[in-house]
Amino acid sequence: MQAKGLFIHTIGCQMNVYDSAKIESMLQTEGYQTVDSLPAADLVIVNTCAIRAKAEQKAFSFIGRLAELKRQNPNLIIGAGGCVAQQQGQQVLKRAPYVDLVFGTHAIARLPTHINSIAKRKCRIVDIEMSQEIDEVDQMAEAGTTGDISKFVTIMRGCDNYCAYCVVPYVRGRETSRKPEKILSEIKQLVRSGVREVTLLGQNVNSYGKKEGLCSFPQLLSYVNDIEGIWRIRFTTSHPKDLSTELIEAFKQLKKLCHHIHLPVQSGSDHILKRMNRGYTCKDYLRKIERLRRACPDIAVTSDFIVGFPGETTDDFKQTLALIKAVEYDGAFAFMYSDRSVAPASRFDKKVSEDVKKERLQILLEIQNQYTLKKNEALLDSVQEVLVEGYSKRPGDNISQWTGRISTNKIVNFISPSEKQIQNRIHPGTILPVKIENALAHSLWGQMVLPESAPTELKGEQSYAA
Ligand code: SAH
Ligand code: SF4
Ligand code: F3S
Repeated sequence: MQAKGLFIHTIGCQMNVYDSAKIESMLQTEGYQTVDSLPAADLVIVNTCAIRAKAEQKAFSFIGRLAELKRQNPNLIIGAGGCVAQQQGQQVLKRAPYVDLVFGTHAIARLPTHINSIAKRKCRIVDIEMSQEIDEVDQMAEAGTTGDISKFVTIMRGCDNYCAYCVVPYVRGRETSRKPEKILSEIKQLVRSGVREVTLLGQNVNSYGKKEGLCSFPQLLSYVNDIEGIWRIRFTTSHPKDLSTELIEAFKQLKKLCHHIHLPVQSGSDHILKRMNRGYTCKDYLRKIERLRRACPDIAVTSDFIVGFPGETTDDFKQTLALIKAVEYDGAFAFMYSDRSVAPASRFDKKVSEDVKKERLQILLEIQNQYTLKKNEALLDSVQEVLVEGYSKRPGDNISQWTGRISTNKIVNFISPSEKQIQNRIHPGTILPVKIENALAHSLWGQMVLPESAPTELKGEQSYAA
């Protein structure tokens, strides 16, 4: 039987990327094959995000484009999943009557059953049921099908923190951790398909396993560290209020744990942090950064910021800029506050105008960009270990241009010597020593150093020779 075409469109965070990958592998076992053009699809899945109004608009604008496709092909099945689907359920069908399936964030494992029912009975289904237990989806993409060397692995679902602006607890449900056995066996399977780096995902990884009495997050990290074939471990997101001494110590003890922490502060004003219900002060936060840097001096620190939260005055904003200057982040994401009707902040007074938000965003980014560049420039002339993720060879070029990341998560594009015997030994997944020769705004540029002449600790033998 000919495979049916599957087109998945993903909006939103890494968790959605992870969920889409699960959906893809589940549906592969149901006879679907991923296609990269919409007209070739028999099934279109839109995985949506509700974090800000813009993300939600993106979802509906993509769904809108599918109306014509459905008119041309009435047998096409359209499924809308993810956080907007969870929040709006039936409303999605009202807005887009040609959608066949609305599935929430806890319904992924039931997807094949729903799709089969729709194919057989031409019915419409809304499944936004939430549960305490995680329905594990064990299927994974076949070995070597994606060729990716770096993958996300969700270790927990939902969030119990209820930051005043945030939709996540309402659309992903209560915080629930996956069992360590499930996580570890999934990572081992990824290793067999060529993956060398994993990023463990949770909204607040520090509280992993606490409710269920499983192991602690740093313990989980140490189990992953013991997996042969995994070379690098990353994680996100760590909530500043719960960052533990044990986790800080892990940066010293676990060799494979990358020297990067994403520690979103959101604001530099205690008054705003309180209104946001973040559970820490600016001083607590700075103390934690100091301890992290003491334990791991070259650690890269990144953050998220929200500008224009209700009640944010010019002075509050100045305090955020002062914090940025005090920390000197390696990078940051900044967002204009966006009202989410389910989150309490949507009912807060002293809303900030769009113009002021825009202006603050621009000022913040301009300042942060200077620090991002400064941090990149500090690496000039050093030799760094790069985990190769891919290559970009321009037609006709006889030098190869590769791309990868260093432990601190900075992207490095580099060229390698043109000798065939060297080229043949480089592939995605190789760790190579690269001399940094140019620092750009958001990436670094360099040249590969022959491992023979690199400093001993940077020979990267295990992978270069592999
Ligand atoms: N669990 C993570 C954040 C996940 S959401 C944490 O606590 O850090 C990713 C980012 O989106 C947040 O850090 C925040 O900066 C931003 N964000 C969340 N809700 C928002 C809203 N209503 N308006 C603007 N930005 C928002
Ligand atoms: Fe949202 Fe706060 Fe939970 Fe992060 S910790 S997902 S910002 S409620
Ligand atoms: Fe968006 Fe849902 Fe992630 S709201 S940021 S896709 S958890």
